[in-house]
Amino acid sequence: MPIEYIDLAYLAAAILFILGLKGLTSPRTAVQGNLMAASGMLIAIVVTLLDKRIVSFEIIIAGLVIGALIGVVLAYRVPMTGIPQLIAVFNGFGGGASALAVGAALEEVLKGGFVEGFDVQLMVSVAIAGLIGGLSFLGSAVAFGKLQGLIPERPILLPGRHVVNAILALVCVGLSVWLVIEGIWLEADTATSLPFWILVAVASLLGLLLVIPIGGADMPVVVALLNAYSGLAAAGHGWVLNNSVLIIAGSLVGAAGFILTALMSKAMNRSLVNVMFAGVGATVATAADSDEIYAGRVKSASPDEVAMLMDGARRVVIAPGYGMAVAQAQHAVQELTMLLESRGVEVEFAIHPVAGRMPGHMNVLLAEADVSYDKLKDMDEINPTFRQTDVVLVIGANDVVNPMAREADPSIPIAGMPILDVDGAQSVVIIKRSLSPGFAGIPNPLFAADNTLMLFGDARAMAAALVTALREG
Ligand code: TAP
Repeated sequence: MPIEYIDLAYLAAAILFILGLKGLTSPRTAVQGNLMAASGMLIAIVVTLLDKRIVSFEIIIAGLVIGALIGVVLAYRVPMTGIPQLIAVFNGFGGGASALAVGAALEEVLKGGFVEGFDVQLMVSVAIAGLIGGLSFLGSAVAFGKLQGLIPERPILLPGRHVVNAILALVCVGLSVWLVIEGIWLEADTATSLPFWILVAVASLLGLLLVIPIGGADMPVVVALLNAYSGLAAAGHGWVLNNSVLIIAGSLVGAAGFILTALMSKAMNRSLVNVMFAGVGATVATAADSDEIYAGRVKSASPDEVAMLMDGARRVVIAPGYGMAVAQAQHAVQELTMLLESRGVEVEFAIHPVAGRMPGHMNVLLAEADVSYDKLKDMDEINPTFRQTDVVLVIGANDVVNPMAREADPSIPIAGMPILDVDGAQSVVIIKRSLSPGFAGIPNPLFAADNTLMLFGDARAMAAALVTALREG
């Protein structure tokens, strides 16, 4: 295929990626955006396959078939609540694949193979792809382990970790310089790929050590950052292979990842430096702390009592969290919403930016149940309205409504995180199965507040019970 056609097709793919991202900024255009980006990827893959530099179709087809099979199985088997882990795995594989592919290209050059040779600028790209690819590979593996519960979610603080990390970072810089110098001698017989592979190994170790001290509550920010890294590794890979669509796609992923990281850090009131190096969340509450907070103060209610409370309300705000996702309660919640509205009650949803386990988790679930998008209100918009709210129904949320976040104590994992100010409402009803803590592992004084009633049970069963009680009441 002539090179101009390839470049033209890559340009079309890049435009589709950008339009796809634009479409994903609103739920109304998200499906269309996703399709556009997927079409762009299809064009990019087909054109790359038609590019005559591709030598072995057998291996590529085998890879495509195996990859597609794994993808289909994962898509069917991984529950919505497991998506953050899956994203962590994808980031890790993306970064690792970039490092391996760049390493393979380097080996080809050393063997005098098909790539035309590297200059200094390209060797810098090789170093970047190896460094960031390795770092995101093992860093993402640790993030996956923590989110999946295979490694303890609490921060693991190794002694002297800052010094060790600084030394490893310096070693990476040294290896990169060696690699670039080696690039100058690539023509000579003495050139070796050794610094590249040592760089990948040291960067992987650095990735592991950087993520292991980070507490589970900060994992969303870390996964977004690793996503950005995997994009940068792909862009470096694109420079090495002189493949424009890989450079553009990698840069888009990198930029989108960094923007998401900045938004998540803001939502959790953390600076990135604090997330990466402070080892926050080191203190996890003990049972004694919870006993002290809850003893004799928690009031539980029945679905009938809560239904009466809501029936008499003018305004109800629903604050969903991770438990709604676990229970798949969104359809029952939508039924409850429609029933309340048919009785003249104003209903809105309070959406915290890190509720659930992935960005936009609550929006996706509620959209699936056809809850009108206009009813979903961001934290900044809904917080000033809680004082005029009769009843807040917290469904499976915990950390995002925990007033402990307002404390300045740095040993509290969510200290400083902006929360939904539900405690300002006249009554708060919390649906969850027990008094057990949320993701951050700390007790929640809201459960023992004077204006709080606990409706203990599974979120879907309780939402359905409220519908029945309202109908019968
Ligand atoms: P959490 O603080 O994790 O609390 C969820 C609560 O849901 C639990 O306390 C649990 O209590 C309850 N629950 C679980 N299954 C339930 C069921 N079937 N029915 C009813 N309740 C159920 O959730 P949140 O308030 O949404 O906060 C999210 C947390 O996750 C934050 O700390 C955030 O930093 C973190 N995080 C967020 C993300 C993103 S990007 N959103 C990613 C990773 C981590 P019971 O066991 O007593 O029922």
